[in-house]
Amino acid sequence: KWGKMCIRDRFLEFAISLVQECGQIILEASKERYSKINKIYEKGENPSDLVTETDKIVEELIKSKLNSKFPDHKFVGEETAAAAGKHHGLTDEPTWIVDPIDGTTNFIHWFPFVAVCIGLTINKEPVVGAVFNPFLNQLYTARKGNGAYLNLNTKLPLSSPNPPITLPSSLSQCLVVSEYGSNRSSTTLGKKFRSVHSLMSKPGDVTWGKKNAGLVRGIRSLGSAALDIIQVAKGEADIFWEIGCWEWDVTAALVILRESGGIMVNGNGPNEEPFNILGRKYLAVRGGSSCAGDETVEQSQLRLVREFWNIVEEIDCPR
Ligand code: IPD
Ligand code: CA
Ligand code: CA
Ligand code: CA
Repeated sequence: KWGKMCIRDRFLEFAISLVQECGQIILEASKERYSKINKIYEKGENPSDLVTETDKIVEELIKSKLNSKFPDHKFVGEETAAAAGKHHGLTDEPTWIVDPIDGTTNFIHWFPFVAVCIGLTINKEPVVGAVFNPFLNQLYTARKGNGAYLNLNTKLPLSSPNPPITLPSSLSQCLVVSEYGSNRSSTTLGKKFRSVHSLMSKPGDVTWGKKNAGLVRGIRSLGSAALDIIQVAKGEADIFWEIGCWEWDVTAALVILRESGGIMVNGNGPNEEPFNILGRKYLAVRGGSSCAGDETVEQSQLRLVREFWNIVEEIDCPR
């Protein structure tokens, strides 16, 4: 057992060195806005789904360094999958799941929520996660069973000055982070927007007026699913919801979220199926050290999940 823990530590250390090295490359490249290194391509002829030279350079670097260090391990990366034109399953083998730049559109526009994400699964279970935002110089890391940290020394969730973080007792106290994604099919977006509408405004509240209130406090969108999840892990948002992103968007951040006490479940129906990391539908609720009433923290989290599921529409999301 001890040996296993040491190995996993070595994995995290290596992931940290890689995200930091790549963060520097991304920062350097961002200085040359719109120049050759940042040549922008439209993926799959969808002008909302962009990729730059830097995405590709960074993924190749991570892939080759992981391959020399751990030649037996598997690799899943966003740009590698795009180039192969197909998606993979997940085996029990150690598998690195990498998003070289989460928030490519942000990177292109200098909107400072951009992250390099490196996660590792063993037996299909996410065990190591490193997420680095080079623009804000924020490094988020976690190893299963060992807590989650900001810049290696501040434990998550943040709880300054001291009071325990109390879980919201109802959705009406929740700040939600969510994304529109790059799939602009009107059916999918229509369902997403109807869901957002239902969260933001109660049926029947049709006129301007003081009594109008949403079912949640607000919805934010950072343009990086990984950094949205990190907001929940930090305790600065309560719920994350996205339909249509991929395992490379969530795996690294998921380890950090879980180690901060948060949970992740499928984003919508069929609801009671076990969480599927390849399912492209994600709903997360933050952790807390206490909650209102007689419920345990876990019961509160699951109640918020069920309330959320009741509101959002079921959205089909094939691989
Ligand atoms: C995207 C971002 C975005 C989310 C999309 C992702 P990318 O990742 O995380 O916030 O809405 O679903 O594809 O393409 O910038 O790596
Ligand atoms: Ca992308
Ligand atoms: Ca991404
Ligand atoms: Ca990406």
